[in-house]
Amino acid sequence: MSKRTGNTARRANDGIGHPFSGTAHQKSRASPLLSVGLILVGAFLLIAYSYRSSFVGERVILKDQGLSCTMEVRQAIPLLKKTYGDSMRKVLHVGPETCTVVSDLFKEDTEAWGIEPYDMEDAESSCKSLLRKGIVRVADIKFSLPYQTKSFTHVIASDALDYLTPKYLNKTLPELARLASDSLIIFAGVPGQPRAKVADPSKFGRPAKLRSPSWWIRYFIQTRLKENEVAAKKFEKAAKLNSYNPGCQIFHLSSNN
Ligand SMILES: *[C@@H]1O[C@H](CO)[C@@H](O)[C@H](O)[C@H]1NC(C)=O
Repeated sequence: MSKRTGNTARRANDGIGHPFSGTAHQKSRASPLLSVGLILVGAFLLIAYSYRSSFVGERVILKDQGLSCTMEVRQAIPLLKKTYGDSMRKVLHVGPETCTVVSDLFKEDTEAWGIEPYDMEDAESSCKSLLRKGIVRVADIKFSLPYQTKSFTHVIASDALDYLTPKYLNKTLPELARLASDSLIIFAGVPGQPRAKVADPSKFGRPAKLRSPSWWIRYFIQTRLKENEVAAKKFEKAAKLNSYNPGCQIFHLSSNN
């Protein structure tokens, strides 16, 4: 009983102390200021909107030219199937536009899952359905991922690791390797390629830091990840036969679990 009275008293106090009750008293004085404020907000929204649409336009062109490593993953799927054969049964793709990769893998009769490392504002309906089913998840790859060890035969990462500092790479790379029973395949940008400048830094949190092949090799040795040389050679051969000339660096790493 006494408790209840206490609660009511606190609630009444809250009403008085509420920040909006103060502004209500000054409403008549503040209204010219308010309308100027509203106009400014409107102008800002208009400007923001026009920037956004021009930016979206740029990204569409980018996609059409295939200037992303995720696009190159999609082109490489038949070659990866040739390289790994029947051992490629269950694939996790990690990277932007993961829904497209997952759908392509489905078309190749391969079980596939996806992790989208960044916010998705404009997911298409087919992608939304993959999200609803939990086949594609949005997750920050700087932290451990919600799958058990060796949940997949292969993990493919594209356009995702370039944005991590070495400190986070140290966590994320072993984490991706943990999830694969066979191989971890990395598609990374190449220094000096135009795609680095046009990528939207606000989406990725920081601009891409594109590393040279020798940087990556050194890094793999440091983190005790071994290159899967047999797979790398097979893939190279298949790529040559199919005139596939990737603009991204592709690394095939053995899972060391
Ligand atoms: C990352 O890990 C390697 C190997 O364990 C270590 O030598 C290096 O200092 C680490 N880098 C950072 C930034 O933590």
